[in-house]
Amino acid sequence: MAELPAIKRRLIQQGVDVIDVGAGDADFAPPRVAVETLARAAQDPAMSRYAFQIGLPAFREAAAAYMQRRFGVTLDPFTQLHPLLGSKEGIAHLAAAVLDPGDVSIVPVPGYAVYHGGTVLADAEPYLYDLTPRTDFLLELDEIPADVLKRATLVYLNYPNNPTAAIAPRDYLERTVAACRRHDILLAYDNPYCEITFDGYVAPSIFEIPGALDVAVEFHSLSKSFCMTGWRLGWAAGRADRVAALARVKNYVDTGAFLPVQAAGAEVLKQAEALSRGYAAQFQERRDAMLPALRAHGFEVETPRATMYLWIPLPEGLASAAFQKRALEDVGVVTLPGSAFGAGAEGFFRIALTVATPRLVEAAERLGKVLATV
Ligand SMILES: Cc1ncc(COP(=O)(O)O)c(C=O)c1O
Repeated sequence: MAELPAIKRRLIQQGVDVIDVGAGDADFAPPRVAVETLARAAQDPAMSRYAFQIGLPAFREAAAAYMQRRFGVTLDPFTQLHPLLGSKEGIAHLAAAVLDPGDVSIVPVPGYAVYHGGTVLADAEPYLYDLTPRTDFLLELDEIPADVLKRATLVYLNYPNNPTAAIAPRDYLERTVAACRRHDILLAYDNPYCEITFDGYVAPSIFEIPGALDVAVEFHSLSKSFCMTGWRLGWAAGRADRVAALARVKNYVDTGAFLPVQAAGAEVLKQAEALSRGYAAQFQERRDAMLPALRAHGFEVETPRATMYLWIPLPEGLASAAFQKRALEDVGVVTLPGSAFGAGAEGFFRIALTVATPRLVEAAERLGKVLATV
């Protein structure tokens, strides 16, 4: 994955018409209210000063009000919620805050690379659990050996899921919260795709599950739901002692997100449901055009109910890295191979619905040509 930008640049220099459906970074404009608020706030010299960990109170309050409105979850904005420089930053630093050397963290494969990376940087030991169709891509704690569970202090879950697009039924979340309580494992619930949902599906917060506040920390992001990836803004929510532990690590690493960005985030969150509904409808349109195009070209792909991703199985025996290389070099389409997410994710590749529909359809056609000749 690290070599991708360089290969892509070389192809573009050679005149190849590259279609990049690799990274989860959609081409939609951010909300106008974000841009206008940022521009206005940047005029105020007071907003150019350090944000510190407290950040902009209005951002904390808007995030807490959104959690209340959207999920019925009551959080104190100043002790149970903390602004982040994007959720990636918080996920990485949570590991530093809660893991000791020798601890085990349970990491889903495929999954967001920071779960594994944060664990390794904290000198802890990742236990890899393969997410496969057998469990509907759900991480089942009961299947993990007892000696591992005994040493485990952290588990990462992400539903709606990147890259599999799986969603978590409520009874799954209930039994997972119960298992975390039983085994005294902290549940890091990574929830950046909770607003990119389709066909009437509404994704929950883990805190909708009774007792979850005792066992979980949840991460939210403005990146995906509001197409603000580059703005670097998100938040962590959870019990005050856990949030304080995260804030303590951050205090040595950063001095807070740019205040005008937090001001913009606050305004976006006041209209979160309406704004995200607009983006989700556009992702759904793309999904609905791309699925028949892929199926027409020989791919067997399920219809996802959330996220901007399609997780597509490859024919038995076809290595995902080889397919990705051919897709890139022969037809100029950037995808992500399952193997880039770890050995347990072999046999699949990921497409992100990040470019306009005609380009997606064209990508499906080009990928079909590769499939027909491998
Ligand atoms: C599952 C998951 N978690 C977290 C993130 C981080 O998002 P950000 O740091 O932009 O908030 C991403 C981004 O791709 C993701 O896919």
